[in-house]
Amino acid sequence: MFAHLKVAPPDPVFGLAEMFRADSNPAKINLTVGAYQTDDGETPILDSVKRAEELILAKESTKNYLPIDGTSNYAKLVARLIFGDRHPVISDRRYATAHTPGGTGALRISTDFLRQQCNTKTIWVGNPTWANHPQIFAAAGLHVEWFPYLTSDRRQLDFGSILDALGRAGSGDAVLLHTVCHNPTGFDLSHEQWREALAIVKERRLIPIFDFAYQGLGQGLDADAEMIREFLANGQAALICSSFSKNMGLYGERVGALTVVTEDATSTPAALSQVKSIIRTIYSTPPQHGGAIAETILSNEGLRQDWMAELETMRLRIIELRETFVQRLSMRIPDHDFGFIRQQVGMFSFSGLTREQVIRLREEFAIYAVESGRINIAGINSRNLEPLCEAIAKCVEQTASCEV
Ligand SMILES: Cc1ncc(COP(=O)(O)O)c(C=O)c1O
Repeated sequence: MFAHLKVAPPDPVFGLAEMFRADSNPAKINLTVGAYQTDDGETPILDSVKRAEELILAKESTKNYLPIDGTSNYAKLVARLIFGDRHPVISDRRYATAHTPGGTGALRISTDFLRQQCNTKTIWVGNPTWANHPQIFAAAGLHVEWFPYLTSDRRQLDFGSILDALGRAGSGDAVLLHTVCHNPTGFDLSHEQWREALAIVKERRLIPIFDFAYQGLGQGLDADAEMIREFLANGQAALICSSFSKNMGLYGERVGALTVVTEDATSTPAALSQVKSIIRTIYSTPPQHGGAIAETILSNEGLRQDWMAELETMRLRIIELRETFVQRLSMRIPDHDFGFIRQQVGMFSFSGLTREQVIRLREEFAIYAVESGRINIAGINSRNLEPLCEAIAKCVEQTASCEV
């Protein structure tokens, strides 16, 4: 029955993480999966998370199913995190939030929703993007229409192409927007560019899906949400996919949320009911523990403040690491300008390394990066910084057509 099966290609990111685990070289460096690491190379459990878990363990009395869309308190807290304390989307009841397994769950439910309920057939996606995006959208039955996100030297946004694509998209098409900390490039739109792009989204009646997997790791929790808040204040509809994987370090707990923002409150109950019927057929109800952690942290003022401080520590450390990385690279390879890496935001950097250079780094130096040249800045630490820069310098010097 299964003899015909062919081995599926490994996932572009998790496949590399598996190769990394299997590598016996003690000097190996992992810059693949987008998980925060401390200077010891650990992906820690935040103190606020540990304390929330103690509270949960002390008071939880059942493992009964959650509602299909999670608890209403979780939904309110997520909406408050996205929109702030006072926003018309909340006061006008123009949103329906469902607790999903991670941001990935939210992305899949959102595209199933568009395909089934809005007859959306096409989603516009900038190239490059997170490698799982096109797979999720294809699984939901959407046709992916690509447009260039970067200029051909991969050192800056191709804003002209972004505007051009939005201008060509048809009414009712979806458009995927990385709200902050673009994965894999780290290049975000400026506020002025967002305004210009979103004006076209509105005018052409496109349906934006805001992938908000990194809230708090760009400019800060509120600053990262500013454009969404501004855009959605006046009756614009959208889908927002949130995740607590990165900002609470809850990766393996699978905690996220889909928020459907409606044009007016009359469509909100129907939107929620349709989201719930999709969820019911895929995983029925969300996993309890991780959601309870996020809910406990966000509803307890002390824990919330502590979490925000821990998140800020992570954010600032990534900024510092990026700066140090650029400085060390510039010292080793003085004839190259690495200024473009400074302009990037968040955990990732499109280093400019070519596929060949990335493969060489892996095979000769046991340094693992994604083949697009994406590196996880948070994987750099005081022990691996110098060997990393030295290896990059060697690869770059010996490659005739170097892009770095
Ligand atoms: C851009 C982007 N969206 C969504 C996700 C999914 O996050 P989660 O792990 O919460 O499913 C990721 C994770 O790396 C991501 O980088």
